[in-house]
Amino acid sequence: MLSKKTVDDLTNVAGKKVLVRCDFNVPLKEGVIQNYNRIDGALPTIKKLLSMDAKVILCSHLGKPKGEPLPEMSLAPVAEALTERLGVAVKFIDDPQVTGAETQKAAAELKEGEVLLLQNTRYRAEETKYGKDEKAEAYAKELAALCDNEIFVNDAFGTAHRAHCSNVGVAKLTKESVVGYLMEKEIKFLGEAVENPVRPFVAILGGAKVSDKINVINNLLEKVDTLIIGGGMAYTFLKAQGQEVGNSLLEADKMDYALEMIKKAEEKGVKLLLPVDHVVGKEFSNDTEKKTVETMEASWSGYDIGPKTIELYKNALADAKTVVWNGPMGVFEFENFAQGTLEVCRAVAELKDATTVVGGGDSVNAVKRLGFADKMTHISTGGGASLEFLEGKELPGVAAAQGK
Ligand code: 3PG
Repeated sequence: MLSKKTVDDLTNVAGKKVLVRCDFNVPLKEGVIQNYNRIDGALPTIKKLLSMDAKVILCSHLGKPKGEPLPEMSLAPVAEALTERLGVAVKFIDDPQVTGAETQKAAAELKEGEVLLLQNTRYRAEETKYGKDEKAEAYAKELAALCDNEIFVNDAFGTAHRAHCSNVGVAKLTKESVVGYLMEKEIKFLGEAVENPVRPFVAILGGAKVSDKINVINNLLEKVDTLIIGGGMAYTFLKAQGQEVGNSLLEADKMDYALEMIKKAEEKGVKLLLPVDHVVGKEFSNDTEKKTVETMEASWSGYDIGPKTIELYKNALADAKTVVWNGPMGVFEFENFAQGTLEVCRAVAELKDATTVVGGGDSVNAVKRLGFADKMTHISTGGGASLEFLEGKELPGVAAAQGK
């Protein structure tokens, strides 16, 4: 699946500086990290390099500061979290230039078994302009120079759908460029699920909008045996079939597309399942008046799948051997509308002998919040990246990691 060398293929790293691109784009609230998934996902590679006596230099972006050194997007909290988890004092230079004199000095003075974390790579506007701007090429060179243009490890799967200086640029400038364990694991699980699934292969797609998942639906219909659709996006499909959807989320301009996908599923012999009942509410709030209905009425909105749909979806999952899940079944953030997501989550988590892959921000949050994270085979750290992977696109970060 991955034709590129990994960290395990590095032999001569003792005493050398190794630049590692991670995805530490973590959610922050007033400087406090809300989810450590991406930080924890990066630890195996960092620990491996430390065990080989490398001098480890980590880099990542956080948010979209667009070339401004915005303090709320500083990687300082990540340095603290890494220090705690690695048991090694991670050095951090709050350098608005990212690769400025102080950072260069810290990199040069780094000793074996030490770790330096660079400041947010997007504090420099060039970061996102790789291939479009000469200054970006210079910035990629500055980053590569920090590890003496020797060894680069790309472990940032979450950023793989971007072609930026710190993932694609640096990979082309260093003598050795390999992928880390996280990148390897993501490509293995997502890749095998999509390219070589053990059947029956069931995909579950949810979330608010059809428009976010157009290419995913289209691509997955080529691969799956069953496609389960829930969440806000289901109402566009139901409306397209002539059903009343009340005030539920609707993308009227995607109704033709929805019909096209229903037809495609029929032609391909794919079972496409849509909700047959709904938990509806009057307003978008946990405490709103609610009821379960099979036929929707005007002035009500669907906020979750109903009990019959839960049964239908559980039955469809019962003999699955590969499951890919992206997007919740309802407004799971509200306890009163979380049942559908909870039950589907439980059904996936309880599958025996199945490979279960959860990709994308909201479904990952749901799985964690509902307490099923350790029951899944793989939880992707990629939001946009895992979606683009499921769309069947070649991700530039993965392509560069494969030497393409
Ligand atoms: C993500 O969170 O999806 C990645 O870190 C990429 O972030 P971006 O969408 O800001 O490029």
